[in-house]
Amino acid sequence: MKQDLLTECLALHLPLPKGEIAALLEHPPNDSMGDVALPCFVLAKKLKISPGDIAKQLAEQLVHPGFIAEAAGPYLNFKLNRQLFGEALLTSSIGDDSFWRPNIGKGTRVILDMSSPNIAKPFGIGHLRSTMIGNAISRILQETGFDTVNVNHLGDWGTQFGKMITAYVKWGDPVAMAQSNNITKDYLALYVKFHEEAEHHPELELEAREWFRKLENGDSQALQLWKEMIGESLKQFDKLYKRLGVTFDHVLGESFYNDKMGAVIEELRKLELLEESEGALVVRLDEADMPPCLLVKSDGTSIYATRDLATAIYRRKQMNGDLLLYVVGGEQSLHFQQVFRVLEKMDDSWQGRCQHIPFGLMRMDGQKMSTRRGKVMFLEEVLNEAISQAKKIIEAKNPSLANKEAVAEEVGIGAVVFGDLKNTRTLDVDFSLKDILQFDGETGPYLQYTHARTCSILRKADGADQTEELNFSLAEHDHVWPLLKLISNYPQRLQQAAGRYEPSIMARYLLELAQAFNRFYHHVKVLDGSAPEQAFKLRLVRASSEAIRKGLSLLGISAPEEL
Ligand code: ARG
Repeated sequence: MKQDLLTECLALHLPLPKGEIAALLEHPPNDSMGDVALPCFVLAKKLKISPGDIAKQLAEQLVHPGFIAEAAGPYLNFKLNRQLFGEALLTSSIGDDSFWRPNIGKGTRVILDMSSPNIAKPFGIGHLRSTMIGNAISRILQETGFDTVNVNHLGDWGTQFGKMITAYVKWGDPVAMAQSNNITKDYLALYVKFHEEAEHHPELELEAREWFRKLENGDSQALQLWKEMIGESLKQFDKLYKRLGVTFDHVLGESFYNDKMGAVIEELRKLELLEESEGALVVRLDEADMPPCLLVKSDGTSIYATRDLATAIYRRKQMNGDLLLYVVGGEQSLHFQQVFRVLEKMDDSWQGRCQHIPFGLMRMDGQKMSTRRGKVMFLEEVLNEAISQAKKIIEAKNPSLANKEAVAEEVGIGAVVFGDLKNTRTLDVDFSLKDILQFDGETGPYLQYTHARTCSILRKADGADQTEELNFSLAEHDHVWPLLKLISNYPQRLQQAAGRYEPSIMARYLLELAQAFNRFYHHVKVLDGSAPEQAFKLRLVRASSEAIRKGLSLLGISAPEEL
C-alpha cells in the first residue's frame, strides 16, 4: 500500500514504468533512516545524471501529505506520515478482501503433486515435509488467485511390491496382522526382514522380481495381496491426513498409469526418441548433459520415470493443468530433470510447465532415516508425543482451560508443522521436539499463544472498536509504528511466498509480526485512554489477530481462541 503511493508519486517524475519503480524500492537498514528508500544508482545510469543529484532533485519535487522525501547521498529516503498511514491501513485496506488475497494467479490451474508416500511403508516424519510443505503451498497459491488441484501420487507400484509379496508369503502372519493396530509397522518389519535375509540369500531378489513380473501381468494372487496392502495402508494414512487437516482432490497411485504407459512409449518410438541400450529402452539426453532416461527395463517392465511421463501427460490433458508442481525431496532432482526434458523433447509446449519444488532431509539426532534398515520415526508417534507434551505445558500454564484435549492436539500438531515450515524448504531440518514446543521461542505455540492473547483482549473490549471515531495520533508511538508497518506488509510477503513456493516466508513473517505485537502489548496499555484512542488500539489488535490467524491457516495450522 505504501509502496503503491510512493510508486504513483515517483512515476510522475521518472521516465520509468511503475513496475520497474516499485521493484527499486527497498527497506532502509534501520528505521531511523526512513521507512522506504529509493537507491538511485540504476536511475543514474539511465538518466546519465549522478545518483546524488537525482536524489536531491526528487526530494525537491516530491511534496505530498503522505510522506517526507529526503536525499541522503545516492539514496532518497521516505518517512511516511504515520497517522495518515495508520488511518488508511486500519479504516480501508484491511477491510478489503484484495488486501488479504492479492490476485496474482489469475486462475492459472496448478496441479500440485504432494505427500505421495509409498504404500506398505510407514508414513515417516520425512513424508511430513512433502505433505505439509505441499499443503501450505497449495493454500498460499489458492489464496493468491491460483486454481490449485492437490494430487496424492501414491507409490503403489514398483519392484518393492515384489519384495513385499515375497516377504508376506514367506513370513507374514495374516491372523496377527488382521488384528494389528498399525499395519504399516508390520509391513515395515517384513520389508526390513526381506533386506536382512536377502544379504545371505540373494535368490530372494529373483523371487521378488518374479512376483513383480506376475503383478504387472495381472496374476490374480499377486493382485489380491497387493490390493490388501494398499487398502490397509491407505486406512492408516487417511487417519493422519485427517489429523493434519490435509485434503486431496485426487488420490491416484502410480498403478493408475499402468495402462497409460504403452501409448507414451509408442509416441516416443514414433518421434524416434527411443533407443535400445543393452536390451533396455532409453531416451538419450546428451544435449542436456544428463544420463539417458531409462523407460523400459530389459525384462520389459516399466519404471518410476515411465509412470511419471504418463502422469504428467494425464495431468496436463485430462486435469487441464497449466502448471505442474512436484513437491518432492531434493534427492529426486535428477529424476525430475530427466522426465521434464523428455517431455520437452516430445513437444516444445512443455517448456516451463513443470517444476520440481525440492526440500531438504529431515534428520533425527543428525542422522538420515533409512526405511530399508527400519530406522524410521513414525509420524503418528511424533504427533502423539508432541500432543502429550503440549498437554503437560497447558496443564501447568492454564489448568482451567476448557477443551484442554482438543487444544493440546492443535498445539502439538501446530508445533510439529511450524517446526518444519519455518525453515527455508531446501535446507535440511534437525528435528527436536523440545525446541519446537517452546512457548517463547520461534515456534508454532508462540504464534498460537500470541493469537490467543489478541482474542482475549478483543473479548474483554467487547466491540469497543466498532466506532467511527478513532484517534490516530498513537500511530506515532515507537511501539505502534513497527506493528502498523508489518501488518501493511502482509500482502507483499504473501505474494513473495507464492512466487517462490516458499511457505517459510510466511512463517518468518508471522514470527516478526507476533514479536512486534508482543512489544506493543508490553509497552502500550490497550484498554486505557479516551474512547477514540482505545478504538484505534483495538483496531490494531484486531488487524494483528486477523493477520496471524490467516497466516497460520495458510500454513495449515489452527489458531485456538483460548490457550
Ligand atoms: N513416492 C515417492 C517417494 O516417496 C514420491 C513420488 C513423488 N511424485 C512423483 N510424481 N514422482 O519417494
